[in-house]
Amino acid sequence: KPSASPILYHIYVRSFYDSNGDGIGDLQGIIEKLDYFDWLGVDGILLSPVFESPLSDFGYDITSLRGLNTEYGDMATFTKLVAEAKNRGLSVMLDFVANHTSSKHPWFIESSASATSAKADWYIWAPAKNDGTPPNNWLTIFGESAWRWHPTRGQYYLHNTLSNQPDLNYRNPDVVRELNKSVRFWLDTGVSGLRLDSVNLFLHDDKLRNNPPRHLGWQDDARTDPYRYQSQRYNISRPENIHLLKQLRGIADGYDDKKWLLGSLSDPSPYAVIDRYTSESDALDAANVFESLSLCHSVGQVGEQLDDFMKSVHPGIGCWSTGNHDIARTVSRWQDANNQPEAAKLLLTMLMSLQGVISLFQGEELGLPEADVPPSLRRDLFGKQVIANYVGRDGCRTPMPWLSEAENLGFSASPPWLPADPTHSEYAIDKQQQDESSVLHFTRALLYWRKQHVAMQHGACRVLAYNQTLMVLERHHEEQTLIIALNASNNEATVRLNLPSDAKSLSLPHMADAVPENHGVLKLLPWQAWVGELV
Ligand code: NOJ
Ligand code: CA
Repeated sequence: KPSASPILYHIYVRSFYDSNGDGIGDLQGIIEKLDYFDWLGVDGILLSPVFESPLSDFGYDITSLRGLNTEYGDMATFTKLVAEAKNRGLSVMLDFVANHTSSKHPWFIESSASATSAKADWYIWAPAKNDGTPPNNWLTIFGESAWRWHPTRGQYYLHNTLSNQPDLNYRNPDVVRELNKSVRFWLDTGVSGLRLDSVNLFLHDDKLRNNPPRHLGWQDDARTDPYRYQSQRYNISRPENIHLLKQLRGIADGYDDKKWLLGSLSDPSPYAVIDRYTSESDALDAANVFESLSLCHSVGQVGEQLDDFMKSVHPGIGCWSTGNHDIARTVSRWQDANNQPEAAKLLLTMLMSLQGVISLFQGEELGLPEADVPPSLRRDLFGKQVIANYVGRDGCRTPMPWLSEAENLGFSASPPWLPADPTHSEYAIDKQQQDESSVLHFTRALLYWRKQHVAMQHGACRVLAYNQTLMVLERHHEEQTLIIALNASNNEATVRLNLPSDAKSLSLPHMADAVPENHGVLKLLPWQAWVGELV
C-alpha cells in the first residue's frame, strides 16, 4: 500500500499531455511525463476515468468497465504506465465508475428493450404512478427527480446522478458478479487501488419508499432548487452499501500488496458518511465527499466543517482536495484570492496541512486560474445540471500548460479537444520551473517539507480557531505537535495563539517567516502561513 497519508496527483487524462498529436491527452503522454511527478515529489497518480465511453460526461458515462477508451491507448500502454510508475515508486489509482453506466451501454440497451429481456433487472425500473408521474419523490444528488421515463420499455428508470447515467441494480447477483470481475480485472493489472465513484449510491431501498423532508444543512444557500428540501434517506447512503463494499474490501485485501479502496461519496451530511464508510466500517481506506472542501470558498467554511468533523466520535479518514474536474479552480473560486500566486500558496499550505489522503488536482501546483472557454467551444453539456447557475465545468478541464511559448502551450501539436487558455502561458511549467519564487517551486518544497515532519503526515488534526479569513490548526503525533496559522485574506491579521514560552517557529519553505511576539501574538501578512512547534 502507499504510505498512510499519500499525496495523489489527480490527472484529468484528456487534458494532461497528448503524445500522438490528435489533440487528446493519453496514457503514453502520462508515461512521457513521469519525470515531472518525480521532480514534484508526489506519491502517486489518480487517473480520471479511462474506460470506454461515448463521452457525453467525459468518462463518467461508460459503455464497458473492462475496456479502455482507445483514444487514451491500449492495454499494453496501460500496463506499461503502471510498471514504469511503479519503477519510480509511484502508485497508480483509477477512478472507477460502477454505480451507473452510460444509457448507451449494451446492458442498458438490452434492459430497456423490454421488461422480459435477459437483462431486464440489471437496472432499476418502476412503473409510473396512475397520473403518469414518477414512482416516488426521489431526487438525484444534483436535486432533480431521479426518475426518467423510457418510452420503449414504458417504465421509469432510476438515475441518482445524471439522466443518461442509469443506476445499476446491485440487488441483482449477476450485476454484483460483473462488478467483482471488473474490480479483479483492474487490480490484476498492478494498480495500487481504485477510487470508487459515487460509492454511497450503489443500493437503494427496494420498497421505493418516499423520502421524508430533510433538515437543512450548511450548504443549502448554494442549492436553491426546491427539491433540496427532500431528504435522500431511501435512495442514497443506504446501510446495504456497506455490505457490498465489505465484499470488495475482501477482494482488495486478498492481494499481497493490499490494494487501496478510496471512495467518492455524495451526501448532505458529508462527514457522518465519511466516518461510516471509513473508520466505522473499514470498508474504504479513505473517502472524499463532493459536498465538502470542493464546494468551499472561504477558510471560514473549511474551519466550520473540519471542526464538526474532527469532533465526531471517531472522525473518518478523509481524502481531501480543494480542486477537481467538477468545480471552478481554487484560486478563482476562493474568496479574495483573485488568482494571486500568494493565495495559491496559502491554499496549498492549507490542503497539505490536513490529515488523510491528499488529492492535488492537475494545475493546482501552478496556481492555475479558471480558464475562459468561449461559449461556442464549451464541451460540458451536463455542468449546468451538476451545479446550479454554473456555466459548465470546462474552465477547470483545459489542457495543461507545459511550454509558455509553444503552440497549444506544449500540450499537443494539434488543436486540443478543449482550447488551451492563452492567459495560462504565464503559468506554464517551463516558466515556473525556471523561477524559484513560483507557485510550482513552492508546491515542490512544501511537499518535501511535509515529508520531514511526522505530525504533518500522520498527526491527528484539530481546528483550534477560525473565522471567515483565518484558521488555526493543530497536528499532533506522539512526539510532535505543530500549530499552523493561515491568513486567507488581502489584509494583515493578528492572532493570539496562547503559546507556551518555549514554542518555536518553523520556517515554511519559500514563505516569509512570521515570529510571534510576547504572549504568542502573531501578526500575519496577507496570505501568509505560520507553523510553530510545541517543544
Ligand atoms: C461524479 C463525477 O465527478 C462527475 O464529473 C460526474 O458528472 C458525476 N459523478 C456523474 O457521474
Ligand atoms: Ca492523444
